Amino acid sequence: MLGVRRTLPEPAAFIRENLRPSPAPMLPEITLFQAHPGSGLARLGATPYWAYLWAGGAALARHILQTPEVARGLCVLDLGAGSGVVGIAAAKAGARRVICADTNPFSTAASALNADINGVVIEVWGEDVTRRPPPEVDLIAAGDVFYAADVGARMARWFDRCTSAGIAVLVGDPGRKHLPRRRLQLLAEYPVRDFGEGEGRPATHGMVFAFTSPQPPEAVVP
Ligand SMILES: C[S@@+](CC[C@H](N)C(=O)[O-])C[C@H]1O[C@@H](n2cnc3c(N)ncnc32)[C@H](O)[C@@H]1O
Repeated sequence: MLGVRRTLPEPAAFIRENLRPSPAPMLPEITLFQAHPGSGLARLGATPYWAYLWAGGAALARHILQTPEVARGLCVLDLGAGSGVVGIAAAKAGARRVICADTNPFSTAASALNADINGVVIEVWGEDVTRRPPPEVDLIAAGDVFYAADVGARMARWFDRCTSAGIAVLVGDPGRKHLPRRRLQLLAEYPVRDFGEGEGRPATHGMVFAFTSPQPPEAVVP
């Protein structure tokens, strides 16, 4: 029997027609195209991570907006950009160049549209940069990329290579299961709202970490 082939709509047109721009939850400085009950995201099949703000990205965006010196003047890669929220915060903080990278073509379209409605300029990369050598950037800012074991392991391996190449790596996360806690130094905590949490619920605890270089083995004292 032949399988059913799903024809996906053109990403930017779909987002413009089916999502609505509104201030991001607990992050009113940034407007995002957001899903609503009539968006019909089920038509797309794959989980639409890009259509929501995740707690990790919200915490990291809040951190960048509150301490703009962490991004000002730098070339910043928002990895696993989703809606592009972290990259947009970096651009608002005065980053010299911002790249939003995500392997999902709906995410790269959402990041470009969201940057536009926030009046900032970003570039989008759709290829899997974790399969490449460390890029020529000063800072990698990754919101909520430890949501699954395989993705988290891939990210951690690539962050190791990047920190060894002298690139700073910031991670935003609410404490998900696959977060490599032993490699992270906590920098700040913020109340944020996670994907799917309504206004009536208590805020989630969003954390921002620096990803640290691997520790050299301890010297053996004879
Ligand atoms: C949980 S979402 C977080 C989105 C956004 N950063 C936020 O916090 O709202 C994780 C994103 O990582 C992306 N992703 C997963 N593996 C990736 C890879 N190897 N390279 C780039 N993006 C990846 C997914 O497509 C998804 O959009």
